[in-house]
Amino acid sequence: MIPEEKVREVAERISIVDVVSDYVQLRRSGANFQGLCPFHAEKTPSFNVNPAREIFHCFGCGAGGNAFSFIMRIEGLSFPESLKLMARKAGVEIEERQLTPIEKQAQSDRQTFQRINELASDFYRETLRVRPDGAAVRSYLANRAIADEIAEAYKLGAAPDRGDALVQHLKAAGIDLELALKLGVVRKSERGWYDQFRNRLMIPIRDAKGVTIAFAGRVLDSSLPKYINSPESPLYHKSAVLFGLDMALPSIRTENAVIIVEGYFDHLALFRAGVRNVVATCGTALTSTHAGLIKRHAEKAYLLFDSDNAGQKATIRSMELFLEQRLPAYVITLPAGDDPDTYLAANPVEAFADRREKARPAFEYFVRSLLAETPADSVDSKVRVIDELQPRFKKITDPVERDLYEKEICRLLDITVHSFRKRMGGMSLSGRDLTGRQNQAVRTGDQTQETLLKLLINYPEARDEVRRTGIDGLFEGEYLELARLVLDRLHDDDTVHALHQLPDNAAEPGVKMLLSRLLVSDAHIADIDWRIAFDNCLRSREKRAIVSIRDIAAQLARLEPDSPEYSALLQEADALRTRKAKIQP
Ligand code: CTP
Ligand code: MN
Repeated sequence: MIPEEKVREVAERISIVDVVSDYVQLRRSGANFQGLCPFHAEKTPSFNVNPAREIFHCFGCGAGGNAFSFIMRIEGLSFPESLKLMARKAGVEIEERQLTPIEKQAQSDRQTFQRINELASDFYRETLRVRPDGAAVRSYLANRAIADEIAEAYKLGAAPDRGDALVQHLKAAGIDLELALKLGVVRKSERGWYDQFRNRLMIPIRDAKGVTIAFAGRVLDSSLPKYINSPESPLYHKSAVLFGLDMALPSIRTENAVIIVEGYFDHLALFRAGVRNVVATCGTALTSTHAGLIKRHAEKAYLLFDSDNAGQKATIRSMELFLEQRLPAYVITLPAGDDPDTYLAANPVEAFADRREKARPAFEYFVRSLLAETPADSVDSKVRVIDELQPRFKKITDPVERDLYEKEICRLLDITVHSFRKRMGGMSLSGRDLTGRQNQAVRTGDQTQETLLKLLINYPEARDEVRRTGIDGLFEGEYLELARLVLDRLHDDDTVHALHQLPDNAAEPGVKMLLSRLLVSDAHIADIDWRIAFDNCLRSREKRAIVSIRDIAAQLARLEPDSPEYSALLQEADALRTRKAKIQP
């Protein structure tokens, strides 16, 4: 735990321009510094750093935030880690809060757990490398053409075909076997302690920092179960661990993408072929924790699962997780019957690269597999397909993407957009037309709302005014969220620090992006008469409100009065009128 004052002290000592300059060549341009964005490929600079605001924003890819977010993103660190890194640069000493006795115990157990896994891993590795009872695993690896360097990169090992080899080894090292039991490397019966893994190829599972947290043991023949995995333990939570992440991180950074596979040997085959930005789940389906972890490191995910039925289900389930995370996901397909291992055994890596190039968006893959299963050749089957699609379609948050898929779906099903929306139910209104319009406004930028927001950020008087008259009629969608945040966080005292903290307080990525964009482009708003600008904004909002009320009236005329669309539109019209009344008392 790092105390809040420390965060503040570090923030005050460093300048974002210095922090960013370690990674990006910056040039002064007006109130900002500009350079080539490190987060996406570009030839002309759209990456802006504003020293007064201590904020950066890229107009090309939308990345933005303060110095902490910059370091987190470029170094792939957590907040505490990047704080420590910057504290070192700023010469601020960080002492963490004193640990409680329970926390101290947990920390010391953790160290012992790690040591047990290290000891076990080294033992299996030595067995594989040189010991006589590693011979069976050595020939297994030779059969699968796994060279020594690859075995070493993964720290592969061999569990001897004996009852208590590891038990003896741990005992000799003075380990408390009860702790080893918690990690699942040894077991206990009336007859005494014995090894969990026997006569198996040992694959250590490591966390992102390279610490061994668990093991998977593969049989050497075709008997079952094929794998035995360490149980959940204080070190190992399989729903939060991605196998191979530590080896993949450098390549994930340069590629800005992650390939996700389902098996240890899939990972190994790709790694051996030189494809390094790969992670695997550990004998479990992808979870939302996994998806979140991937999002922390990359902007794009490739799903590379088996082409069988189970693989297809896993692909679709994973697509949903990435839709929820708003991380673009693509599907790499291999010929039927192949997995990455068999594919790369028979094809050059260029052929794989070509398949990756041709990867299709996961949602498209989903629609196509649905249609392959249920050909849309009757009204009935079309309805079924749409009902299947509906919950996933609703998760697409990007309005442009949604538009494209809607058109594509309608084309594939040979139906009109109107009937598609009708079948989707109230969705056409709440989902697309209304929020769709709002999102569209945020995307292209609603000038009036943006100017109003810039005024709120820059003029305490404007904030007071809005606090007095109310916020509701003035903003919508993400603008409204940001306006609330600004009013909530910015007070007359201490504005500079609060301003620098603002990006950390914006939870929604869309709001964060909007904020950083406004903060690097509001120089023109300094030294103006805020009152005149404010009134101008109100007037143009008023004009717009009238236009949309007319719009709604026209739409109402075309709808059935007892339909849900009709009542939703009526409500919107009412809201607009109230808003107008507020503006024009
Ligand atoms: N798995 C598991 N326990 C099993 C079987 C499978 O945990 N009894 C998990 C493992 O993470 C495995 C993945 O599911 O890597 C995929 O299974 P499979 O394709 O059968 O294994 P591979 O690792 O591809 O191994 P191989 O190439 O040797 O068949
Ligand atoms: Mn496999």
